Amino acid sequence: MERYTASIRAVASYVPKRTMTNRDLEKTLDTSHEWIYERTGIAARHIAAEDEPASALGVRAVRDLMAKHPIAPEDIDLIIVPTSTPDMVFPATACIVQAAIGARNAATFDLSAACTGYIYALNTAATFIESGFYRNVLVVATEKYSSILDWTDRTTAVLFGDGASATLLTRSSDASGILAMDSGTDGGKCEQLYIPAGGSRSPVTKETVEKKLSTVHMKGTEVFKNAVPRFRQTIERVLAAAKCSIDDIALIIPHQANVRIINAVAKDMKVPQEKFFSNIEHYANTSSASIGIAIVDALAQGKIKKNDLVLLTAFGAGYSWGSTLVRW
Ligand code: UT7
Repeated sequence: MERYTASIRAVASYVPKRTMTNRDLEKTLDTSHEWIYERTGIAARHIAAEDEPASALGVRAVRDLMAKHPIAPEDIDLIIVPTSTPDMVFPATACIVQAAIGARNAATFDLSAACTGYIYALNTAATFIESGFYRNVLVVATEKYSSILDWTDRTTAVLFGDGASATLLTRSSDASGILAMDSGTDGGKCEQLYIPAGGSRSPVTKETVEKKLSTVHMKGTEVFKNAVPRFRQTIERVLAAAKCSIDDIALIIPHQANVRIINAVAKDMKVPQEKFFSNIEHYANTSSASIGIAIVDALAQGKIKKNDLVLLTAFGAGYSWGSTLVRW
């Protein structure tokens, strides 16, 4: 089969209207704006309405994308929805998005890779396009973490927010596109960041609800310690795969979990902090949606120019990690 290049043609994002600041959280939790901001870089997050599931956030992002980059819905071949907060266990949230946007010729599936979901989805989309199998793939990363948090647990409730991004990948005929990818997993550490109940291992019961076992549980310090070397590893691997040096990269857009993690990676790699984009202050950690939202903000701030090499990278539950190197 002939091989092609996959390009990112358009990106859009959506966050719910309601903003929740650290000061708002002070009213219900034993926490402070100072603690949250100094330890994470987060000042606020957006919270979806009760009747606004993850699919609705994703559809908003897609509509914005289609307004900016007209594409007929029936020309979309595949929709991948990376998410940890699907509308339902099944069918896939991607099916709900497909129906809402009228992409009647698209195949659909959800992808479960937590905060690394965007990178896994991008790399999967690129592989389908490079093989010639599909021409237009839509990645709709959408998360409603407010629905899986224990709002009485200050160690997790302050960290996450809701939001979505939509990314259109198409077959490319110019020099732009995805140049290299990397991904990995360490499943042995999956209980350091997980939702203990609600799956087939421990279905929802009165007891699991009372013990709040269907909410995010995290050993934060362990996650932090694992994140830094894994970010470095995946960044170095994707650079090696493309035969590039870090100096060739115009901008690194990492998953936004904690600005201290990002700064620690920059320090560890002896790269100026300014090379790493961060907007966590406004959104907190939106899991799989964070990199797409960050791309939109970086473009709006003029930080990405045509032909720039942009490195996207993520680490999250699983543990899972991965990177994508893009010629913009
Ligand atoms: O997308 C991937 C998923 N997540 C991550 O990457 C998160 C990775 N981890 C982290 O970002 C950090 O570990 C946290 C932000 C979660 C925590 O920061 P830390 O510097 O590791 O703090 P800590 O957990 O060691 O807690 C320090 C203290 C503790 O009190 P004591 O035991 O020293 O008295 C905590 O109880 O801070 C306390 N604490 C808080 N205090 C005020 C924990 N959460 C809060 C809070 N407000 N929200």
